Amino acid sequence: MKNFKYFWNNKNILITGINGFIGSNLAKYLLKNNANIFGLVRKIDKRTLLYHENLDKKINLIFGDITDLKLIKRIINEENINHIFHLAAQVEVGVAMKYPYSTFESNIKGTYTILEAARTSSVKINSIIVASSDKSYGEYPNHKLPYKENYSLNPKFFYDTSKACADLISKSYALNPKKPLPIIITRFANIFGPGQMNFSALIPDCIRSSLKYSNFEPRGNGKDTRDFLFVEDVAEVYEILARELTKNKKLSGQIFNAGTNEIFKVEDVIKKIYIKNKNKKDLLEILSKLPLRKTKGEIKNQLMTYEKLYKFFKWKPKTTFDKGLEKTINWYKKFLKNDSDNLTSS
Ligand SMILES: NC(=O)c1ccc[n+]([C@@H]2O[C@H](COP(=O)([O-])OP(=O)(O)OC[C@H]3O[C@@H](n4cnc5c(N)ncnc54)[C@H](O)[C@@H]3O)[C@@H](O)[C@H]2O)c1
Repeated sequence: MKNFKYFWNNKNILITGINGFIGSNLAKYLLKNNANIFGLVRKIDKRTLLYHENLDKKINLIFGDITDLKLIKRIINEENINHIFHLAAQVEVGVAMKYPYSTFESNIKGTYTILEAARTSSVKINSIIVASSDKSYGEYPNHKLPYKENYSLNPKFFYDTSKACADLISKSYALNPKKPLPIIITRFANIFGPGQMNFSALIPDCIRSSLKYSNFEPRGNGKDTRDFLFVEDVAEVYEILARELTKNKKLSGQIFNAGTNEIFKVEDVIKKIYIKNKNKKDLLEILSKLPLRKTKGEIKNQLMTYEKLYKFFKWKPKTTFDKGLEKTINWYKKFLKNDSDNLTSS
């Protein structure tokens, strides 16, 4: 993908969920391309990548909730926003099971709030990328995997349903005949990498516990399968999608899946991380517990491909799982050491 060097120069971009894992990595990527970034933050957390890597100093942070229509309208109009990446969401599956109402508020109302603000604004918006998820598809039998973009959405659990609703709502804003918005919806596999602070997710949880900062309690018997995308690859593909949509409005309403086409059993991911971190003793104990566990509230097997992204934009992920894992472990080693030093000194 050539010629994008100057594309983002002085473009006004709004990233919702900028304090989160993917939002902060995307901001880091776009800052290298001289974008003028505005970020919506609900809660300051100085431990996140945004602050950890001093990105906050180069971004216009605006504090508030994604469901606040008046605020979002004001941001889009006053800051003359040209591009939106909508990433804010309540992403923890366990939290969603306990608090479906607030999960639906953030994930569903949050989505139609930003789209309604965009629809009613007087500013020319060139692209809106909405992060849906592979979870929107719900469970499909193994012979139907990998998921295809034309599969119907069939979610069961609260988080999955919240993402599917946001996904469908986005499509109707894109296809609205009166005032269509330029929107692309992404349904990506599990994403991992530096800066993921959701320690209920498999990879950060495993890295932290294998480095002996916590205890790992497996959520299932380890037989479920997943695929994983490295966050730097995600930032790259978001950039491409926004730029291509700006050039070609016919892409609006399109859905793109992404995964690495590589499938891993949860058990093997646990093994990989513990072995990389030279903690065989705890690994043996975890493996002995696995057969006794039952997975609750989660899809058994998921698999995505990047086939459509490749067909449209010749994009494919650059980072192998092992390489991404290495970079991620190195990041957490520094982060966890700093964090625990800060805790003991305070
Ligand atoms: N991480 C993954 O594996 C993955 C995979 C596929 C899709 N996604 C989607 O990508 C997006 C970003 O995920 P992430 O992993 O960076 O999550 P994250 O939890 O790290 O970031 C989400 C951010 O949204 C903010 N937020 C939540 N509710 C809000 C509200 N009401 N108002 C304002 N801000 C609010 C949170 O404070 C947080 O900073 C989400 O939409 C998620 O569903 C993530």
